[in-house]
Amino acid sequence: MEFREPAGNNIFDNARIVGKAHPRIDGPLKVSGTAPYAYERHDVVDGQLYGYPVGAAIPKGRVTAIDAEAARAAPGVHAVVTTLEIEPLGIWDYNVARLFGGDVVEHYHQAIAVVVADTFEQARAAAALVSATYEAEEADVDLDAAFDRLLGTGEPSTMVGDVETAFAEAAVTLDEMYRTPSQTHAMMEPHASIVDWSDGGQMTIWTSNQMINWNRQALATTFGIDIDRIRVESPYIGGGFGGKLWLRADEVLGALGSRAAGRPVKIALPRPFMINNTTHRSGTVQRIRLAADADGRLTAIDHEAASHTLPGGRGEDATAQTPYFYAAPNRRVIHHLVDMNLPEASDMRAPGETSGLMALEIAMDEMAEKLGMDPVEFRKVNDTQVDPSDPDVPFSDRHFVECLDTGAEAFGWAGRNTAPGATRDGMWLIGHGMAGAYRGSPTLDSGARVRLSGGRLTVETDMTDIGTGAYTIIAQTAAETMGLPLEAVEVKLGNSAYPVSSGSGGQFGASSSTAGTYAACVALQRMICERLGVDEARFEDGRVLAEEIDRPLSEISNEELVAEDTMTFGDFKGDYVLATFGAHFVEVGVHVGTGEIRVRRMLAVCDSGRILNPVTARSQVIGAMVMGLGGALSEELAVDTGRAFFVNHDLAGYEVAVHADVGAQEVIFLDTLDPVSTPLKAKGIGELGLCGVAAAIANAAYNATGIRVRDYPVTLDKML
Ligand code: MOS
Repeated sequence: MEFREPAGNNIFDNARIVGKAHPRIDGPLKVSGTAPYAYERHDVVDGQLYGYPVGAAIPKGRVTAIDAEAARAAPGVHAVVTTLEIEPLGIWDYNVARLFGGDVVEHYHQAIAVVVADTFEQARAAAALVSATYEAEEADVDLDAAFDRLLGTGEPSTMVGDVETAFAEAAVTLDEMYRTPSQTHAMMEPHASIVDWSDGGQMTIWTSNQMINWNRQALATTFGIDIDRIRVESPYIGGGFGGKLWLRADEVLGALGSRAAGRPVKIALPRPFMINNTTHRSGTVQRIRLAADADGRLTAIDHEAASHTLPGGRGEDATAQTPYFYAAPNRRVIHHLVDMNLPEASDMRAPGETSGLMALEIAMDEMAEKLGMDPVEFRKVNDTQVDPSDPDVPFSDRHFVECLDTGAEAFGWAGRNTAPGATRDGMWLIGHGMAGAYRGSPTLDSGARVRLSGGRLTVETDMTDIGTGAYTIIAQTAAETMGLPLEAVEVKLGNSAYPVSSGSGGQFGASSSTAGTYAACVALQRMICERLGVDEARFEDGRVLAEEIDRPLSEISNEELVAEDTMTFGDFKGDYVLATFGAHFVEVGVHVGTGEIRVRRMLAVCDSGRILNPVTARSQVIGAMVMGLGGALSEELAVDTGRAFFVNHDLAGYEVAVHADVGAQEVIFLDTLDPVSTPLKAKGIGELGLCGVAAAIANAAYNATGIRVRDYPVTLDKML
């Protein structure tokens, strides 16, 4: 089915199941420990061995020799595979890091060997016996210096009007630098796989990956084998946040180890490898200049940012939102991507906007203060319903002003003390801050297969559930479309034997995969109509109704009916900007003695199309708010500038926030309908929830203390 034009008002508008609160259907499996995660699949193949990786000890250069004799002789060891024995493996389109093979080292902890043994402890002990010699080269990891060199150079991605004249003529201007550190996904479950490539023929992988079909393609390219020889299963995933969009060393080392040992191999990347071997969010340096007239209308926005990655990678484009978020007739936007020998920088939840809004939304707060305006009002004045660079292109559905108004009202924003450092509660200085949120909302083609048998429906799609609630919203969509109760639907995900879906990423998963499920159900409806000899029918209360016909779905056919389809999206979407919007309001306390910042309460208002399930959507947003709190106050990958690696490579040194770090959280959904997004009029929510959070906290800390911090994280030493 192709989605060719804005959805009419007749689809899902009287929904009984979609849009309603349902606890996640996979919840009982998870809380009872019976959801099978990759590393726990002891049941799938016999004779599993354990793999353990060895990482390079230099950031750049060549491996000249590897001595694996002692490891090979160690107790329980079945095989050791070193990078020098293997030709450089292929690199798939969206990856740039070398995962294995050859002597070139591009980053610290690039995998150089894998040890396979009977037990985990034997594999780890033997891995410690592998030694390597290197020819090391200098690695430059100074992003600030690179930004200084690049400032004002290069071709802007957006260049509209006359920025310099606007600055010269403006009533009020701002010109500030902002910095965000590199961050790691820090998902609870590490990259983990069981790989059976025992005979070097069929490759079967039980893994933890957000994108089943990308994963298969990446494996085929990496090993130069036919994609049909590869089977991938990833039904349960203990968090991804973008870190599991890609093929990583666990699968590659597992495959090579399995082939060498002639047995299936299970391997989980140790936590230090999660930091320095897999991907991370790049740090950014950003210069933001704003110009406004005396009424607070922005006349110019100039956003120049830099991030780093391995050559060919994407880094973190902190300017992603700047072309679209606020009106201003003159604008210049440019992102400098700097090649650096740190591990590959790539996508992490809301890549681009997260870091961009950490800076831009502080700048907006500063500018409002310079103008003597309320920061909510300042944002409202600069709202736009069209692409500011191309007024012929409207937003498909944008309710940013309603987010601001709703949030201000619910939070009690009008009652705050606008004077910084002037509100005290015992030993705590109290502050209030807010920020706007923006995140693009793409869709990807998404397929599904549905099976109807005895009145029960099974949905099969290679879509994944990374903790988001995908199982549940897909079941709701299928039940709604087929007129069945939710209990009559079973959802099977994360298997390459099922139709190719959008997968989970870029907050496209929920909207795309439910659209694909809808398409497959419509194909099944058509099949049933043909059998009944009618042109159309209604599907309600477990029955099919058409003309004279009123039959239970359980009595349509003696054999199983199977239908499959893929939702594709027509070119018409290019006539619109599709995005999601929000507003965050935060109250903090800053301790007058220690500078400790505690977040007392947080409110998010979200405009992201139809909310498919308010329970799972809220769960996404409150989780994202906590992640934003970590980004504001504690998360930072510290770079050893001499040796070029991330020093705090574990969960003791990399400090992630938890729900107990927040006093109270509230989420309000506007529950809008975006007719351009999908037939269900739904958009993404999981990444929107993170956007703007950190700036709202930094702005609240400023309101509490009068101290403006532009370098994240806002640690207590910066408050003293
Ligand atoms: Mo998201 S960073 O595309 O999983």
